Amino acid sequence: MAKAQTIEAGHGKDGVEARIRDLLSRMSIEEKVGQLNQVEGSAHDVVHALGADLRAGQIGSVINQVDPATVNELQRIAREESRLGIPLLIGRDVIHGFKTVAPIPLGQAATWNPDLVEACARMAGEEAAAAGVNWTFAPMIDICRDPRWGRIAESLGEDPVLTSILGAAMVRGFQGETLSDPTSLAACAKHFAGYGASEAGRDYNTTNLPENELRNVHLPPFRAAAEAGAASLMTSFSDIDGIPATANTLLLRDVLRGEWDYDGMVVSDWDAIKQLCTHGLTETEYEAAYQAAMAGVDMDMVASAYRNHLADLIACGRIELAVLDRMVANVLRMKFRLGLFDGRTTADAEPSRMASRSLAKQAALQSCVLLKNDHQTLPLDPTTLTRLAVIGPLADDPVEQLGTWIFDGDPERSVTPLAALESLAADTALSLHHVRALATTRSHDQSGFDEAEAAARDADAVLVFLGEEAILSGEAHCRADIDLPGAQVELVKRLKATGKPVIAVIQAGRPLTLASVLDHLDALLFAWHPGSLGGAAIADLLFGRACPSGKLPVSFPKMVGQIPVYYGHKNTGRPPSPDTIIHIDDIQAGAAQTSLGMTAFHLDAGYEPLFRFGFGLSYTSFAYSGLILGSEAIAPDETLTVQVDVTNTGEVAGEEVVQLYLRDRFGSVTRPVRELKAFARVALEPGETRQVRFELTVEDLAFYKRNQTRGAETGAFDVWVGGDSAADLHAEFALTEDSVALP
Ligand code: BGC
Repeated sequence: MAKAQTIEAGHGKDGVEARIRDLLSRMSIEEKVGQLNQVEGSAHDVVHALGADLRAGQIGSVINQVDPATVNELQRIAREESRLGIPLLIGRDVIHGFKTVAPIPLGQAATWNPDLVEACARMAGEEAAAAGVNWTFAPMIDICRDPRWGRIAESLGEDPVLTSILGAAMVRGFQGETLSDPTSLAACAKHFAGYGASEAGRDYNTTNLPENELRNVHLPPFRAAAEAGAASLMTSFSDIDGIPATANTLLLRDVLRGEWDYDGMVVSDWDAIKQLCTHGLTETEYEAAYQAAMAGVDMDMVASAYRNHLADLIACGRIELAVLDRMVANVLRMKFRLGLFDGRTTADAEPSRMASRSLAKQAALQSCVLLKNDHQTLPLDPTTLTRLAVIGPLADDPVEQLGTWIFDGDPERSVTPLAALESLAADTALSLHHVRALATTRSHDQSGFDEAEAAARDADAVLVFLGEEAILSGEAHCRADIDLPGAQVELVKRLKATGKPVIAVIQAGRPLTLASVLDHLDALLFAWHPGSLGGAAIADLLFGRACPSGKLPVSFPKMVGQIPVYYGHKNTGRPPSPDTIIHIDDIQAGAAQTSLGMTAFHLDAGYEPLFRFGFGLSYTSFAYSGLILGSEAIAPDETLTVQVDVTNTGEVAGEEVVQLYLRDRFGSVTRPVRELKAFARVALEPGETRQVRFELTVEDLAFYKRNQTRGAETGAFDVWVGGDSAADLHAEFALTEDSVALP
């Protein structure tokens, strides 16, 4: 069947809206509902299986098909054999790479480098577009303060500002200069909203977020993504204050469409419309379809609930045609923006592999965080070492280093740490002795330990590659105990007992509790899951060919019982301090109840994390001085400049992430003790000083107030600038009057 009519040409906003109206006027109810229906399409016989529905205009999007010929055939059928010739959205989770894999998003966040993060998304998008994909389900910008949650790996960490800036960079990277470029993908900011607060870090669990915290902490990254032009948003699986996100009118109608005026498309998460029944919100799938549609979910990801019920809901008048038309318009608008109606074809070439490799390596280099380096154990000097023991289950695993969500990742492109160390040692007198010691990170079988210990005794230094396999993080892969699994701690103890310097490289999808192992290590490099070129980056860092510069995008707890532990907490009425806390081992016999500090701390863990947000060591050192504010007081329409001198006081060139934190001392609602507001990555030669300048506006001082409107309140603010969230170079200023209510 040939297309009945061509869709009239017309570009620009008005042109597109006119074309949407034209199409809507010609669509049947069934064809409209078809546009809201996303189906799974990974099966080999998908063309046959979906052909009839495609021809009948019953499918708007196919998820999970990445064979270019198959995708092209599906598109051809939709375009040429359906009545109205509406092309398909082809969706895929392209999260941190397609074939070439960059570090997991949490690792990318540790780069604190928006340009690099944008470039990684661009690379992933270009590779995926060459397979026919035109829609990715990224960035994931859920604020996460609970490392038990497996999906923290996919997140950009605990902080709203860092997540907003990097999330927007990912949107720009995927979507490119224009969405209609055949190498651009439509982005999908997810999971709207609050998913990262799943109770106990257990995936899909209930969240309890008061509206003020939701607005001040969890929603800003979504607003930033919307403002960066994210073509779509995905609802969260979780419920929030009793209402599942997929039927949440506050989130989807009032905030997203009302306050933010978002004109992109909203898709449910996988099967989430049906799951409204499982949540216990609705008794029937019919009612679930009604609630999701009325809340503002445009597309149904694979549940078929819209397909099964929307036409009936329209027929009986419970849903007005105008509501359906709005939903369909949102889907069609995305297709127009992607250029799908204007001859967009599958990009015919992948980006150059050389360029992708060098970018993936650069991202891995900047993502690794040096957490410990006693007595300058690192960097290693290959000209003075003769024997190096390379131990551990993750020294040579091309798949695991890629991390979670790498459906299409090509392990053939991986360079493992062992391979990189071998090639680096090839030109030197250094010999490597590799012993895996444990079959997996989860293994308790210590039969390989004798060989590992012997290799360590025989070596000048020991490199031990520890962590978690990719399968231990990601969706539905949560852990209640986040120590190094299996017998890895015992392995470290055995290696340390040899008296040789022990350097650990940890690859993992989340912060781990490392207190039990830290004292046994001379140095520790935390590499997250670093992606295809992770091994090459790690080897360069270990041997000082590059200087570590990653900084933590999330706090590392000492023990699970501290969770959530994050830097931007409230002060409380009884803030702890070093002299108000006591350790459980120091409690005197017969101590009175009121002698034990009476502040907000744990008797066994104090109140600080093991490693704080923003922290990361370098092979050089940086000094901060000359903090100068442009003014002691500003009005809401004025800009405050903050300048500081940063000096490389060490012996080698390095990069520092300069971080600016604010505290609003008093507010109509209590304010965090510190909030990151700006940061800059600066490269400094030894002895070099650079002046870094930030500009703060009323937007940086604003927050959602007691009445849930946004604005800045008059009063005193503290400013700190430095290399982590405990920065102590301090100044203060005042805002002289309240701002007007901000949009
Ligand atoms: C995940 C989403 C993902 C979707 C499609 C769901 O299970 O929660 O993040 O985009 O599947 O694969």
